[in-house]
Amino acid sequence: MLTVGAAVIGSLQFGYNTGVINAPQKVIERFLNETWFNRYQEPITKTSLTTLWSVSVAIFSVGGIFGSFSVGLFVNRFGRRNSMLMANVLAFVSAALMGFSKMSGSWEMLIIGRFVVGLYSGLSTGFVPMYVGEVAPTALRGALGTLHQLGIVTGILMAQVSASGHRDIIWRVMDNTPYSKIPFAKRLYLRGTTDVSADMQEMKEEARQMMREKKVTILELFRSPLYRQPIFIAIMLQLSQQLSGINAVFYYSTRIFEKAGVAQPVYATIGAGVVNTAFTVVSLFVVERAGRRSLHLLGLIGMAGAAVLMTIALALLDKLPWMSYVSIVAIFAFVAFFEIGPGPIPWFIVAELFSQGPRPSAFAVAGFSNWTANFIVGMAFQYVEELCGPYVFVIFTILLLSFFIFTYFKVPETKGRTFDEISAGFRQSAGTGGEKHSPEELNSLGADSQL
Ligand code: GLC
Repeated sequence: MLTVGAAVIGSLQFGYNTGVINAPQKVIERFLNETWFNRYQEPITKTSLTTLWSVSVAIFSVGGIFGSFSVGLFVNRFGRRNSMLMANVLAFVSAALMGFSKMSGSWEMLIIGRFVVGLYSGLSTGFVPMYVGEVAPTALRGALGTLHQLGIVTGILMAQVSASGHRDIIWRVMDNTPYSKIPFAKRLYLRGTTDVSADMQEMKEEARQMMREKKVTILELFRSPLYRQPIFIAIMLQLSQQLSGINAVFYYSTRIFEKAGVAQPVYATIGAGVVNTAFTVVSLFVVERAGRRSLHLLGLIGMAGAAVLMTIALALLDKLPWMSYVSIVAIFAFVAFFEIGPGPIPWFIVAELFSQGPRPSAFAVAGFSNWTANFIVGMAFQYVEELCGPYVFVIFTILLLSFFIFTYFKVPETKGRTFDEISAGFRQSAGTGGEKHSPEELNSLGADSQL
């Protein structure tokens, strides 16, 4: 717990910087306005303000795209633990840039700081779930994997609470608490028991498998029929997480609530953060029993339902003012269902879908897909919302339903199966060790040989 707990402080950092920009939108806009005025002796135009604001929000995910794509380079060279330690330099640099941006009258420092902490977060979204997946015992891999997401949502909540006051300095100062020491990951130490024979057996299996397996580059990942199916699944699951529209809520909920006529939008935003955290804990406790596949399906369909409710609420708001309450319920349900499956599962399932050889490259590709989609939603939402008005959530509904269908037909269950069993399932379905198998067959293949 201590080891995983230390590792997920990186996730906390990512969450903090995801949530920190939402509530103080007005404060930051005022800062942009004042700085503009001081420089050019005229007030900022609406277009320049929207652009500077959107860039400050979305540049974070551009950093994330670059960071996540470099994950393989780091872990293959320096190892998981040292990579996590090294990344902290970026956290300090970004804290300094953002912390002093107001004093220096420079929005460039704020934007570059957001980019640098994006780099850090992109790296963390690879390092942390990879490390946690590897040190976890098979039976707890999902639960411990969900701690990465719990770190993220706790970070978001901390940011929402600390940024909700009108002390406009807080959002820049309360930033970037680095983690200092990750305990050395000795497996025995990690189990807290002397009977580790089952673990040892599993590790030996994995080691034997690894001997036959060299490091796989990103290109090979797409070329080899062996990895094509798992990498496609990993990418689609990442896209299902981001294109669900979750970050439209976490970047812009204050504004969404304002438009829905909610009297205290900042408190509703914090409410969303609380629901978010609570349901991640629920997922943590049920994921080893219910499995990844069923929770992901439940989450997607629930989110689709909530998005429909949100559309109804926004569309009827003019006639029925109490619809603003319905919009709160809809957003809370949207967030709750997200954390049941689509929040935590895509992150940790990448470690499960790949063995050691291809794992770093797989994380790079998965992270890259996730962050690119994150960027698109972050950048486009405000514009699309202006175009579609109350119907903006219809787009997410359609996407959610498509991802539901994909998951139903293509994603196998990985619960309780060793890394080796999971890759064996894919090997067989790729035709290199047998004929083609459906997800159901892959499931039963794994279930037969569960530990
Ligand atoms: C996931 C997503 C992240 C999102 C968060 C919300 O970790 O990757 O982008 O902000 O969940 O809880």
